Amino acid sequence: MVVSELFQATKRLKDNLEWLQEAKFFDKVDSTQKRINQFLPKNPEGAVLVIAETQSKGVGRQDRPWYSPPGGIWFTLALPMKDKPLKKVIAFSVLAGLIVAESLKEVNNLEAQIKWPNDVIYEGKKLGGTLSTTTKKFRKEWFLVGVGINVNNDLSDDLKGIATTIKNVRGQAQGRSRLIESVVDGLWAAWNEFDRTGFGPYQNRYMAKLSGIGKTATIVAGDTKIEGEMTGIDPNGAILIKSNDQTKSVQAGEVVGLPA
Ligand code: BTN
Repeated sequence: MVVSELFQATKRLKDNLEWLQEAKFFDKVDSTQKRINQFLPKNPEGAVLVIAETQSKGVGRQDRPWYSPPGGIWFTLALPMKDKPLKKVIAFSVLAGLIVAESLKEVNNLEAQIKWPNDVIYEGKKLGGTLSTTTKKFRKEWFLVGVGINVNNDLSDDLKGIATTIKNVRGQAQGRSRLIESVVDGLWAAWNEFDRTGFGPYQNRYMAKLSGIGKTATIVAGDTKIEGEMTGIDPNGAILIKSNDQTKSVQAGEVVGLPA
């Protein structure tokens, strides 16, 4: 019997990370973001992780479908809110993209960039993304960070022009365990400090990876479209857009297309 790489990785994480309260691996789920609910304990003492080899109903930001065939990294990490108010940790969703991009550098020596707020891109093509949601179980709140990274998986025909995989970039299949471990570890470490630090200490690190600084970009925030020069992000993780000599900060939304 061939034991799957991700099954072993999940077991190793569960054995080695004492703060991981529960870790589950599935060959196939609908979405790790949904399935994780089943494993959230009554007494949150640490984080909970669900990893899948494939998802039949993976979800992306704005409720878009997320193509999740075998060979990629698809997981959700549930972080206990304890008494953290949501408004104190909302910018953690922006930070999650940075943690993925920095892990790609550390583990795969890959210089990924970020398309605000949390698309991870390489040479303009999407390599991965994160999805942050919250949920409640046994009257306890959890912050869920879903991470999707194209590693050795194929890409559907409509994704081929706009997305890429680490295997495409590197020219050969890559291991996934170290990358998962680095992202999971990075998320947990940042989570434990975030209500005290906020986004501020990460601002420069994020700027170093932000795609499109100094270029013209369109930001879509709900029904509003803002066009202007992208000048950076502020200490709360909001994107800064300059138009007609005025700089606006936009906290929620996304950059559409890639800045020219
Ligand atoms: C995005 O739109 O960029 C975010 C994509 C997030 C996908 C991940 S894969 C694991 C987790 N489960 C899901 O259904 N979605 C997230």
